[in-house]
Amino acid sequence: MIQFYHVQKRYPNGCDALTDVTLRVREGEFVFLTGPSGAGKSTLLRLLLVMERASDGQILIGGRNIHVLRDSSVPYLRRNIGVVFQDFRLIPRRTVFENIAISLEILGIKGNEIERRVNQMLEATRLLNRAQAYPGDLSGGEQQRVAIARALVNEPAILLADEPTGNLDPELSHEIIELLLSINRKGTTVVVATHDTALVDHYAMRTLSLAKGQLIEDRPKSARAEKFLSGSHSDRGATERQTAPLPAERLAGERQTGPIAVPGSGGILPLVGSPFSSAPVRPTQPVPVLDDLIDEPNDGDRGGEP
Ligand SMILES: Nc1ncnc2c1ncn2[C@@H]1O[C@H](COP(=O)(O)OP(=O)(O)OP(=O)(O)O)[C@@H](O)[C@H]1O
Ligand SMILES: [Mg+2]
Repeated sequence: MIQFYHVQKRYPNGCDALTDVTLRVREGEFVFLTGPSGAGKSTLLRLLLVMERASDGQILIGGRNIHVLRDSSVPYLRRNIGVVFQDFRLIPRRTVFENIAISLEILGIKGNEIERRVNQMLEATRLLNRAQAYPGDLSGGEQQRVAIARALVNEPAILLADEPTGNLDPELSHEIIELLLSINRKGTTVVVATHDTALVDHYAMRTLSLAKGQLIEDRPKSARAEKFLSGSHSDRGATERQTAPLPAERLAGERQTGPIAVPGSGGILPLVGSPFSSAPVRPTQPVPVLDDLIDEPNDGDRGGEP
């Protein structure tokens, strides 16, 4: 699903953020990306999102070489990758429902379908009773769950989370990781960047460790991780018991055969069966505006609020 071959990233200031990184993340895997501050975790995620381009090496997502991806095709790639940032990046003057719905609006999806999918995500993230609240009225954990719901509502094949527990206390951190695990159990490939080694050790999932831009360890998941992957532990945040097949079985059984036919993109990713519904997202118009909307000035009817 994700492959790095001898990837190097040197920023214009001469900083070598990544040096000769080679790694592979398979479809349906759950991977922690860890390492101290400045190790290159966020840079690696930014390369996957083509927010930055590698200086050397190759990066493949779903078999496609994103090194040679045209700028105009980047939005199509990003629709297959959900992202959760540490600072949540919610739109303050929009309700929880509207913050999640925005990912679907920009794809041109119709109202009834938006309502169905957003409600599904609200339920999955236990936010149904907060649907009409504004981000400023939510706890940190609730805000992070909204950010996760928004990242997942258009059913991406991959979820990247950059320090998703960075602002949360330990109890809420576990809740968020367990939510991400429950999402992974439904088939989404999940990569979580975190410097929280206690969290990483607790879950014992596969762990890629970076230090000074180099991949210094690729630790496979331990036997203990299986209980989290199977959902058989007494989880706090998981939204449902394990009833779905494991990712590999699910992908074998449900995976669509062809690539997404994305106009003008040449088809960016192989189509992975959606974790949340059987209907794949088929982008209808090239309107990559989520970032613009997140960054828009807070001058609407909730103007002036924090
Ligand atoms: N835009 C940039 N321009 C120049 N140097 C950068 C830029 N972004 C990051 N760096 C440098 O690249 C290195 C890796 O940074 P990165 O943000 O990827 O690390 P990180 O592992 O995510 O750290 P943290 O845990 O603090 O988030 C650091 O030395 C950082 O100073
Ligand atoms: Mg970082």
